[in-house]
Amino acid sequence: MIERSLNRRSVLRLGAAGAGAIVASRYVAIPAWAQVPPLEEKDTYTVGFAQVGSNNPWRLGESKSMQDEAARLGYTLVETNANEDTAKQIADLDSLIAQGVDILIFPPRESQAIAPSVLKAKAAGIPVILIDRDVDHSIAKPGEDYITFIGSDFVDQGRRAAEWLVEATGGEAKIIQLEGTTGSDPAIDRQKGFEDYLAGTFQGTPTAAGAHPGMEIIASQTGDFQRDLGREVMQTLLQAHPDVTAVYAHNDEMAIGAIAALQEAGRTPGEDVILVSIDGSNAALDAIVDGTLGASVESSPFFGPIAFETMAKYIAGEDIPDWVKVEDRFFDESNAAEFQGEQF
Ligand code: AHR
Repeated sequence: MIERSLNRRSVLRLGAAGAGAIVASRYVAIPAWAQVPPLEEKDTYTVGFAQVGSNNPWRLGESKSMQDEAARLGYTLVETNANEDTAKQIADLDSLIAQGVDILIFPPRESQAIAPSVLKAKAAGIPVILIDRDVDHSIAKPGEDYITFIGSDFVDQGRRAAEWLVEATGGEAKIIQLEGTTGSDPAIDRQKGFEDYLAGTFQGTPTAAGAHPGMEIIASQTGDFQRDLGREVMQTLLQAHPDVTAVYAHNDEMAIGAIAALQEAGRTPGEDVILVSIDGSNAALDAIVDGTLGASVESSPFFGPIAFETMAKYIAGEDIPDWVKVEDRFFDESNAAEFQGEQF
């Protein structure tokens, strides 16, 4: 049986074996086609960074973090911007692969659509580290097709938002859910964690304390993680569902948009409609302090240091887990003021 627990240094040393060859070590054997391409030690590297977009503070914070760390290390960062268009990100990745960058470090906009690009990079001998969003593992596998996924536990973020909302509403709410980008890993998982917790079917730690039948999701629609769209979608949904008493937004930008829509409609966010969201942006912390947003689960965009540190470990032949998990804080009225202005 072929296992995937070979010491990474052995993989690097033996990675030049031809396709179809079986690479042997004293531990286990891995076929060459099942290995992430090696990355040799050099003075400097050209890193391809295919960003999803630049229309919100989270993306800008992520890009700056990557730029700052690449500059600190003296590496060349070749950046592209998909402008929130999955087809453009696929083309951007094709171009970075054709340029022959040493490594690709990027967030895939959609988990299924971008997975073939990870396989293309592997076929071209370019190792990949995915940051912030993952791809569908039935298409491309960490530790085999790409080095690792570095990011948050999005299912648990949804669970934490649900748990807070149950507490804040006394277990009785008519909820509008504003979903993130359709087909993206955070949108899928944040929805799952939230809905599973309310249904009492959440699998994980801590386990749900049973179902919450008083928490009714009356509408759920995508706002594509964007403030303007969050506002527009909320305006429309408010007309169909004036009985709304809570909003769960998959990110802060959509929550801020929803707050504006609620205020325009004469509602009082924070009082007659309770909102919870995800990211922990500066705008969200301000909204928590002014009482319009109830809470925000952190989802940090500052991947530069951990991404390049993971790359260095890979070059050094260290074992990298399939998932380098980022731990998230939680912001509400008890601590938001303390962190105001420190985020993104
Ligand atoms: O992939 C992470 C998500 O993407 C963030 O929560 C969101 O704000 C961003 O657009």
